[in-house]
Amino acid sequence: MNRAGATTRCADEAETIKAGRQLASRLAPGDLVALEGALGAGKTVLVRGLGEGLGLAAEEISSPSFVLAIDHPEASPPLLHVDLYRLPEGASLEPLGIDEALAGGYIVAVEWGERLPEFWQRAAWRVVIRLEPDDVRSVTIIPPHSEAG
Ligand SMILES: Nc1ncnc2c1ncn2[C@@H]1O[C@H](COP(=O)(O)OP(=O)(O)OP(=O)(O)O)[C@@H](O)[C@H]1O
Ligand SMILES: [Mg+2]
Repeated sequence: MNRAGATTRCADEAETIKAGRQLASRLAPGDLVALEGALGAGKTVLVRGLGEGLGLAAEEISSPSFVLAIDHPEASPPLLHVDLYRLPEGASLEPLGIDEALAGGYIVAVEWGERLPEFWQRAAWRVVIRLEPDDVRSVTIIPPHSEAG
């Protein structure tokens, strides 16, 4: 299926944060965002901008690498920030509460989103971050299939 995306060049961290803020303005309660990109690509940085767009202070967003999921009920809509990097192979995603959050009108942002089951990947906004020379990141945002036309 063709899912056209738009790519933005982000020359520094501030620009990646801005890309996250802009994405926030396009999202609705119950939307899932799957972030893809290598270690240190800037997934957490982009979610910082997303959080800002949902009314959080950037400092309130930290990496869920070790805790796997961080709940931000005070965001509007509320935000669940998930990181699948350290989820053991074959482990259930159930305890992370993604389903409940989506049903409850949360926005759910998932780092290492390529590890989500296929049905969730299809439903998700995909954010693909590529490392370029000189600290540049290319950020491609692909809307869910239903919106791609
Ligand atoms: N253009 C840029 N956009 C985003 N981050 C940048 C940029 N240039 C440099 N950086 C730096 O790259 C790092 C990105 O770290 P971040 O934790 O967001 O990566 P990540 O993709 O979440 O990694 P992980 O897979 O470990 O979770 C930060 O230290 C940030 O300051
Ligand atoms: Mg991260």
